[in-house]
Amino acid sequence: MFKIEAVKFKDDKIILIDQTKLPLKEEYIVTDDYERIAIAIERLEVRGAPAIGVTAAYALALSVKNKNENVEEEFLKAYNRLKSTRPTAVNLFFGLDSIKEEFEKYKNDPRVYLKLIEAAKRLHEDDIEMCEKIALNGLSVFDRKMRVLTHCNTGALATGGSGTALNVIRRAYFNGFVECVHVDETRPLLQGSRLTAWELDKLGIPFSINTDSTAAVLMKEKKVDLIITGADRIAVNGDTANKIGTYNLAVLARHHNIPFYIAAPTSTIDRHCPSGKEIKIELRGKEELVKIGDCRFTSDAYDAYCPAFDVTPAELITGIITEKGVFGNPYRLENV
Ligand code: MRU
Repeated sequence: MFKIEAVKFKDDKIILIDQTKLPLKEEYIVTDDYERIAIAIERLEVRGAPAIGVTAAYALALSVKNKNENVEEEFLKAYNRLKSTRPTAVNLFFGLDSIKEEFEKYKNDPRVYLKLIEAAKRLHEDDIEMCEKIALNGLSVFDRKMRVLTHCNTGALATGGSGTALNVIRRAYFNGFVECVHVDETRPLLQGSRLTAWELDKLGIPFSINTDSTAAVLMKEKKVDLIITGADRIAVNGDTANKIGTYNLAVLARHHNIPFYIAAPTSTIDRHCPSGKEIKIELRGKEELVKIGDCRFTSDAYDAYCPAFDVTPAELITGIITEKGVFGNPYRLENV
């Protein structure tokens, strides 16, 4: 079967598939420069909460490659730079802090670079394993052959492994539980119609793309049995930040009595965050709203509001599928 790998580490370099070019071009970024990787995260050349976490971990490890002087200074500079790239996906901070912990242990050891790369590889392997467990646990939310709607991209491109919500859908499909997938295009950057569609096409899973605003009509026409999306940060009370438009779906799902699930690794739970109110939402530049690719279709003189994420309140979420099981409301995720 075709294998999609968003992040690879080979010959002391990171290899990222440039997600801004997909599905029309398959181009790769090959680098050992943490600054180039920070830029890739900011530009969304690599995106999706778990993929960002794994990529940032490799980037931070690479910051000490071939460094014999001022190692700690260089490391902290890279840590702060990478930390500033995107504010919402908690996996970024989880990945960076794991490498920082390792650095504290080995900062005076000549093998420090090797130790940090080993730690980044472990994080990557854990992510691969978590994706498989999430998919397995997610099977329990299917009770018949279902038509599933999803938002944004939560497949292999968004993780170090095979994905979260889209991996649940993939496994369920190959177990005979999915009839078709409705793919929200996911404005403004079209992660749905570009990336999720590309992955489903490669996997041979039947799908159809729709504008985000068509989701309501699909539900009204009884063409959706189940909704599963991913998450960028989950508060301990279950409030969940995910790609802008997820909250709309959850409200619509409640109105139409359709189960609405989140699928994410427990590394997406922010144990310091009691509720959605404390989640910092990234605001993106209006360039992303007034252009598609290189094509400008409205004036950039207009005011625009472009939050990258929204927060879905816990009471609208039927369940959260993780590698440790499926949790239901009321959510008490602090000790998960
Ligand atoms: O801005 P993006 O493309 O990084 O946003 C990604 C999402 O919102 C995904 O749904 C989320 O990160 C889950 S990825 C498994």
